[in-house]
Formats: sequence, C-alpha cells, structure tokens
Amino acid sequence: MSKILITSALPYINGVPHLGHIVGCLLPSDIYARYMRLKGEEVLYIAGTDEHGTTSEVGALKEEMDIQAYCDMYHQRHAKTYKDFNLSFDYFGRTSSEQNKEITYHIFERLDKNGFIEERTVKQVYSVDDKMFLADRYITGTCPHCGYEKARGDQCENCTKVLEPTELINPRSSISGSANLEVRETKHLFLNLPKLEKRLAQWIKTKEPFWPEVAYTIAQKWLKEGLQSRCITRDLKWGFPVNKAGYEDKVFYVWFDAPIGYIGITKQWADAKPSERDWRDWWLNAKDVRHVEFMGKDNVPYHSITFPATLLGTGENWTQVDYLKGMSYLTYEGGKFSKSEKRGIFAEDAIKEFPADYWRYWLMSNAPEGSDASFGFDLFAAVVNKDLNSVLGNFVSRVLKMTASKIDSEVPAGGNLEQPEKELINTLQIRVKDYLKYMDEMEFRKALNELRAIWVEGNNYISVTEPWTVIKTDEARAAAILRVCINLIRIFAVLSAPIMPTISASMLQRLGLTPADMPSLKDFDVSREIEALKPGTPFTVGETLFERITPEKIEELKQKYGSSK
Ligand code: MF3
Ligand code: ZN
Repeated sequence: MSKILITSALPYINGVPHLGHIVGCLLPSDIYARYMRLKGEEVLYIAGTDEHGTTSEVGALKEEMDIQAYCDMYHQRHAKTYKDFNLSFDYFGRTSSEQNKEITYHIFERLDKNGFIEERTVKQVYSVDDKMFLADRYITGTCPHCGYEKARGDQCENCTKVLEPTELINPRSSISGSANLEVRETKHLFLNLPKLEKRLAQWIKTKEPFWPEVAYTIAQKWLKEGLQSRCITRDLKWGFPVNKAGYEDKVFYVWFDAPIGYIGITKQWADAKPSERDWRDWWLNAKDVRHVEFMGKDNVPYHSITFPATLLGTGENWTQVDYLKGMSYLTYEGGKFSKSEKRGIFAEDAIKEFPADYWRYWLMSNAPEGSDASFGFDLFAAVVNKDLNSVLGNFVSRVLKMTASKIDSEVPAGGNLEQPEKELINTLQIRVKDYLKYMDEMEFRKALNELRAIWVEGNNYISVTEPWTVIKTDEARAAAILRVCINLIRIFAVLSAPIMPTISASMLQRLGLTPADMPSLKDFDVSREIEALKPGTPFTVGETLFERITPEKIEELKQKYGSSK
C-alpha cells in the first residue's frame, strides 16, 4: 500500500462555483481519490477555500459585509455545494486558518533565513478614484507580450505569461474603470526566484517522466525565459500580516499562502482528528507519499514553479508534487459562464435540477482535458438519455424485472458458462483493463468511454443470447444467462462507483450489497467477478435508475439559465 496525497486547487472564496469550477479540479480529484481508495490505497484528499486577496475584500465591500463574516458565509456555501456534488474530501479547510498562518510564517522565516527574501522599493499602482492600491488582478490593460487587450495585471489569460501590473499598456482600474492611476513608491518583499533557479531546474528534471506534457512544457518555458523575483507582500488588510519588522502593516500575497494552504488544511484535518496521523507524515520528511495535484491550466505555473521553489528554498524536505493534472476550461455554449449576465448554470442550481451523478457523469465524459469543452443542455440531455438511461438504466431494470417475473427474485441457479459467456469475459477483461489503465493515468474522457463501452457489452450480450426466448425451451440456460447479467449489474456498479457513487450504491442495494462490500479495483478479474453473486442471492427490482430528460424540460432549462442561441 502506498500513500497518495491528493489535492484540488483551492477555489477562490468569493462568488459561487459554476460547472467549470467543478470539472476544472474538484470533480476529477474526487474521482481519482475514490478510485484510489477502491484500489485499497491509503488516500488523503484535501481541498478548501482560498480566502485572501483583494477579490475577497472587494467582494465583501460589494455585499456590505464584514470580511470575516463574508468568508465564513461563503465557506459554508462552498462546502455545502461540494457536499451536494458528493465530493469526498477528507477535509475541506480554509487558507485563512490559524494552522495555515503558522505554517506560512514558518516557511517565510526559513526562506528569509536562507537568504531567498529580498527587500525592494517598488512602484505600485494607486487608484486615485478608488482610494486604494490596486491589486494586480484589478488592473486591466493591454498585454505587452501578445497585445491582448483585457490582460490582468497578474497574468495574461491569453498567452499565460505572468505579468507585473506596471508592464500593462493603457492600464485602468477594473473596480471603477478609472484610468486615473498613479504609481507610488512603497517597500515590498520578494521571493528571489533567480537564486532558486538551479535547484528548481534540477528538481524538475527528477520529475520529468511523471509530468504530463502541458505542465512540463509550461515549466520549461518559464525556466528558459529565466525566472524573475516575485513580490509576495501586498498593501491590504485582509490576509496574514507579514511576520517581519517593518512590514507589519502589509500582508502576504494570496498566491504565497494559498498553496501552503494544502499543508495548513492537512494540519486542520489532523487537529480535528487527533487519532489520525500526524500531518507531517504527509508533508515533512514523509516517506512513500505520492502527491497528485489537480488544477485548471492557469494554475500550472504556480504549482510547477513558484510553490515548488518556495518549498525548496526552506531547505527542508517538504513533499513536492509528483504528478500534476492540468485541466482546460469548460465554456457555456462556447461562451463564458457569467453570474452577472445570468448566463450558465451554477453548481448550486445544477444540483437542484438533477441528481449529482448526472452531472458527474456528463462533466467527466466531456472533461476539458486536451482542449476546452463546451456545456449545453442539448448535449447534456443527449448523454443522460442515451448513456445513462438507455444503456445503463434499461439494462439494470430489464434484467431484474425479467428474472423476477420469469423465474424468481433471486439469482437463478442452473446452467453453465458457455461460449457466449467466454467471449463476453474476454472482451470485458480487455475493456476493464483499459478502463483501469486510463483511470490510473487520469485520462478521464478515455476512461469514461471505456466504461460506457463496458455497459454496451452487457446490452450486446443480452441481445445476442435472448434469455426471453431461450426460457421457453431451456430454463437452465436462461438461468445461466440471467445470472451472468445480474453479476454484470454488480460489476457495472463497482466500476462506476468513482464516477457515480449514489447510482452505484443504488445498484448494489438491489443486490443486497453496500459500497463496503465492493471488491478492490486492484487486480480486478472479470472471470472471478462474473460469478461472485451466487445462486439464491435475493434481489429487489427497485425504481428506474435515471429519469429521461424531455424536450420540454430542455427548453425550460435553456430559458432559465440563458442560451447564447
Ligand atoms: N484560488 C485559485 C484559483 O481558483 C487556486 C489556488 S490553488 C492554491 O485559481 F493551491 F494555490 F491554493
Ligand atoms: Zn499576453
């Protein structure tokens, strides 16, 4: 057994998540965590809200709330939504926690002591009309590298280059739109990345075989261009006050303490469960920990360069990322999800319209992996109606109903496995192996393609063997076929469990089983599992697993959530 530390990028606390946030890091990390648990691995799965920064200050201001109360409220909303989506975090914490503060201070002190912190007088953008220093992301202007006109002061979302706000051409405040900006001088602390460059390059080399192409390319590109020192302090009130003399009125930059949040949240988890392991077992001088991180592609530079360099600079042996899964974006009918423009379905509403598993399945089978993907209600309904309802749902109800009405409400006895069963087993062995391989590799679209193909094999098998005809002349043979089909339902439930945990549990329940009865996905052997449910095991037919989505409902949803068409 190995230890797998799984983290999802920590969603910004301000605002409520939409489907793009769910599929961008939270859902794939959950599916991977569930999958690894089913393989019998020791998993620690951590996420939480990313709470500091100007976005929160501005958000609280807009809602006329005290910032702490604002974060408390939104933290609850995030937590509730993710619970509704059945995300199985071991702990859902907060970057603003005392634990995170303690670790952030420790890491900063080590960096300072080791000479990786520089003091610099910088010119900073002050908005005269907003009466405040503007955080980088609140300045909009033209990217000096690619000419994109809506580049943010911290990063250009078009060419992904990280920027200093003063580099922007024609800058303006994103809060008021005012171009009445002044550059004022102030002192800040910088993380000296050039000094860490060699170590970082060496470390990245050790990771080469494990990193997916996109992360590796981005990291290499940064190194080639040469690293620059990054400012890690800000003139804000909300955040951890800097623990260095002369800087007490400044706070750490949100991107400094946010990734440290993975560690801070692990400590929150450990503090909440004293019987569990020490948080250090996962993070400091930890043995046999494989750390897998999930994030949107814009987060890759921070997780492959800045954060690893931060940890390397402490001179301590912190757990670093071993594999980084970067996701592209999900659009809403090709455009942006926008709360203010009432376009796109947000997670809280999504869950009121359909059960979580419908969303989980659709989102992962259309995951924006290689390139961006687009959500639309037509596509959503087509997938639910076909894959879930026709292929999986009908198979389950057909098999159980037929067996109950023609034989009995228990797994039928009689007959043997013959040629069609041998062929089925062979086909499924290959498909299951591929499914598990893709899950191991976090190739979710491909994995779900295989999962669907596995369900289709069940349908093909019953069409070819025709138990409803066979039963008229050969009851034992029909019994053998239906026994195989009922066992297929169990196999489908087990394989689908990471993706659709509720549907899976409901399928198992019909067979008198619970999720705790599932076999390990390690060395999953179809020829063994196809005979796991013995003759005489009682079952119940149960309700239909999925509801069809009607054309009227699709229209209603389009009206309600906005359509670009
Ligand atoms: N809040 C960031 C985002 O949503 C992600 C932060 S990841 C962390 O893009 F690890 F730094 F917290
Ligand atoms: Zn650019």
